[in-house]
Amino acid sequence: MTKVALVTGGTRGIGFGIVETLYDEGFLVACLGRKLNPTIETLIKKSKGNVKFIEADIGSIESINTAVNKVVETFGRIDLLVNNAGVAPKERNDILKTTPESFDFVLDINLKGTYFMTQAVANVMINQTYDVFIPKIINVSSLSAYASSTNRGEYCISKAGIGMVTTLFADRLAEYGILVYEIRPGVIKTDMTEKVSEKYDKQIENGLFPIKRWGYPEDIAGVVSLLSSPKMRYSTGDIINVDGGYHIRRL
Ligand SMILES: NC(=O)c1ccc[n+]([C@@H]2O[C@H](COP(=O)([O-])OP(=O)(O)OC[C@H]3O[C@@H](n4cnc5c(N)ncnc54)[C@H](OP(=O)(O)O)[C@@H]3O)[C@@H](O)[C@H]2O)c1
Repeated sequence: MTKVALVTGGTRGIGFGIVETLYDEGFLVACLGRKLNPTIETLIKKSKGNVKFIEADIGSIESINTAVNKVVETFGRIDLLVNNAGVAPKERNDILKTTPESFDFVLDINLKGTYFMTQAVANVMINQTYDVFIPKIINVSSLSAYASSTNRGEYCISKAGIGMVTTLFADRLAEYGILVYEIRPGVIKTDMTEKVSEKYDKQIENGLFPIKRWGYPEDIAGVVSLLSSPKMRYSTGDIINVDGGYHIRRL
């Protein structure tokens, strides 16, 4: 049976890397995003129907439910969900000045969106039957789930919240054989880090990460591929750091 993956925010950056890898591995891939761009359009054409774009705004519950129904109509089932879509605040602002608008913008997409997308897809997965493939949900959070950046508190809170989304759904869905994981990327070269890339170049040069380089979307995609393997079958609720060793404390 062909496996079906749903990747949110699959049009660019880390999500696109995940879509490409899953397609290469034989998944049918539903790529959810707000708009098409030439990169994803090229892959869709090459895939001859195995990768499809489905328009969705993860910040809207109605849009999430419509998109999930559309994925099921299109491919018949969902075996793997990757909750990758996410935003940084439009402006970095000290936590003494965070606006309620920015807080809602970031939390609605990153946390509420991840929660309700997981809920919607879990309800699809629960009613399916499986052969060797194990249904899985993978949440993309960030090192910001535990590292303080006082100029983007709303982002850190949204990613810390994803930690509990992972724990809760791992606990609740284990009885259905659905396994849930969280990937915590470090600093990854994408549009999201473009504006602050000089700062990170310097920090990497100065040894911020034991593995002295930027991360790339394919570093995250490789771990999605590992986690989606049926060889990973007696673990759930786990967090995998994909951060060049940033989480290691030094004395
Ligand atoms: N880059 C890093 O260093 C880094 C580090 C840690 C964690 N992360 C996390 O990794 C994930 C991907 O980040 P990235 O660096 O690849 O970001 P990116 O290059 O900015 O891409 C973000 C993706 O999310 C989609 N998206 C944003 N808001 C959406 C919405 N409301 N509805 C549907 N799709 C939406 C975008 O679609 P459009 O093209 O339609 O805008 C795009 O495909 C995010 O959750 C981010 O927080 C990134």
